[in-house]
Amino acid sequence: MSQLFEPNRALSREARIKNMCEYKELCIQADEDFEGYWDKLAREKLEWFKPYDRVLNDDNAPFYKWFEGGKINVTHQCLGRHLNSRKNKAAIIWEGEDGQRRIITYLQLFYRVNRLANLMRNKFGIQKGDRVVLYMPMIPEAAFAMLACAKIGAIHSVVFGGFSAEALRDRVQDAQAKLVITADGAFRRGKPYMLKPMVDEALKEGCECCEKVLIVQRNFEDIEYVRGRDYVYNEIIMQESQYCEPEWMDAEDPLFLLYTSGSTGKPKGVQHSSAGYILWAQYTMEHVFDVKENDTFWCTADVGWITGHTYIVYGPLAMGATTIMYEGVPTFPDVGRWWSMIEEHRVNQFYTAPTAIRLLHKEGADAPSKYDLSSLKVLGTVGEPINPDAWMWYYEQIGGGKCPIVDTWWQTETGGHMITPLPGATPIKPGSATFPLPGIKAEIIDEYGNPTPRGEKGFLCITKPWPSMIRTIWGDPERFVKSYFGDCKKDGKPVYFSGDGAMYDDDGYIVITGRTDDVINVSGHRIGTAEIEAVLGHHENVAEVAVVGRPDPIKGEGIFAYIVIKGTDSISEEVYMIQELNKLIVKEIGNIAKLDAIRFVPGLPKTRSGKIMRRILRSIAKKEPITQDISTLEDPSIVEKIQNLVQF
Ligand code: WTA
Repeated sequence: MSQLFEPNRALSREARIKNMCEYKELCIQADEDFEGYWDKLAREKLEWFKPYDRVLNDDNAPFYKWFEGGKINVTHQCLGRHLNSRKNKAAIIWEGEDGQRRIITYLQLFYRVNRLANLMRNKFGIQKGDRVVLYMPMIPEAAFAMLACAKIGAIHSVVFGGFSAEALRDRVQDAQAKLVITADGAFRRGKPYMLKPMVDEALKEGCECCEKVLIVQRNFEDIEYVRGRDYVYNEIIMQESQYCEPEWMDAEDPLFLLYTSGSTGKPKGVQHSSAGYILWAQYTMEHVFDVKENDTFWCTADVGWITGHTYIVYGPLAMGATTIMYEGVPTFPDVGRWWSMIEEHRVNQFYTAPTAIRLLHKEGADAPSKYDLSSLKVLGTVGEPINPDAWMWYYEQIGGGKCPIVDTWWQTETGGHMITPLPGATPIKPGSATFPLPGIKAEIIDEYGNPTPRGEKGFLCITKPWPSMIRTIWGDPERFVKSYFGDCKKDGKPVYFSGDGAMYDDDGYIVITGRTDDVINVSGHRIGTAEIEAVLGHHENVAEVAVVGRPDPIKGEGIFAYIVIKGTDSISEEVYMIQELNKLIVKEIGNIAKLDAIRFVPGLPKTRSGKIMRRILRSIAKKEPITQDISTLEDPSIVEKIQNLVQF
């Protein structure tokens, strides 16, 4: 049993939730009057244009509806309503990798968002419900674009800038987007990199839906323009009015789509709602980071992921906080970059991924001591399990032993935090996300729906709906039901299954044990093995392929591919193939899905019905002994042959 760290007393005294009694009291309230609990929050936290008629409609479960009948505008919640009290407060503090800085106040942000909203509405004819794809670097215009969409009721779908042209094309097509907003490019590791050429490539084929492209100039490198399609933001934005009427949105109208990987098939467009999503973004921002009026909050994610959506843009702005946005990598010009930014901006809450912590620990364990990090009050992690070593370094060297670490478990589909410590209340321990937030019914159950005993792994489920939950998969409601409500049941009723395994430890703390499906978590990014296999399978020399995750000291997991090759057996050919296959991956998906290891094998372990036994392949990749029964395999001898090939 690992050590418990009690909350910092001074922080607890000032915190919104000050101790475990208060936490439990809230949990009891939510248990006793579930709808009343959410009703109170929605009335207190959100500014409604028209009040809702019903808190929760579960008539058509799992297509739950929250706050039906209510009218709201998320951008008004994030900007307009703050103008009386915070118009001159910094909303976004942006730092370019090259050292450029921009500070945008709430009033300035309001004007910029309105201008862009008007441009989309008037010049590009974007209407409520239309989809707009954003393929942006980490510049303030990415946030402007998200909020401008929300202002006019357009549904944004941000595509991470590290995805390839092909991946971008898939998403534009699936969402049938009318407009793409992008940038010429940005800076990374001290050099310009380009995005616009990827957009050109993506739109070359099969994207007739997309009529216009808006380009923000950031690095001012030369790019090509398509007449009548491409517009330069910097040249035309000032022609638009700085006032714009917000669209009155139904509580359940979609706010955005965000594509994420599942265990099968292509990435799916996770659809989020307006009211429920923003309620939880704001509530968790306030309570999990305990942000105060004069604080500066920094989440290092990219806006292309859910963490960037909820904790760089929507959460901080909904509560009226100051959010930092950084363009580049943590190691430029050196490993002290983030720590120098914390010192410079007097950052109070800092939120990052275990991969980054491990990297900065390995590359520059002493770097933090050169900076004054005393402004920090709360540290957070997200995206993957954090190992005790990295946790301790973060706690001691970054937090000075006085900042609680909130290890937040959640997913693209949950919209915001689900299981996490509360900084003023929860005694924390390395490697545990601790307890569910009040109102969130996260449970670990077995295949019969019974809670698992302490120390035993089970399925991590959320057994009651919650406001910020995924509403559906864009264009594929059946897949939504099957993917999330098909595997686990409680009291005979389907419940939301996260895809993660977890267990209660000896103290009843929740420990996440990782995905139970065929999704790999590389540097905190979700990648479906099926997507990678589909790409590799396209290569003319690949007969069969199976991809699994393998533990990696920095990235959490690395991608390990077993390939049955046709037409070659010479080593030089294999080296060539490795390069070829990685090129293919980068072209079809992007750099994040590059293979860490490839083994060319004579066959794959399959059952007699042809199913690949991935658990065996996972064990082999980890060099673990095989515990599964292999006698049912079509050819049991293949296991030893593969093992011998992997041993070197
Ligand atoms: C994993 C990121 C352990 C988990 C917000 C989940 C975590 C997936 C944690 C979702 C954590 C997220 N500890 N594992 N604190 N947080 N995960 O959709 O496997 O990109 O299912 O959302 O990341 O990844 P996604």
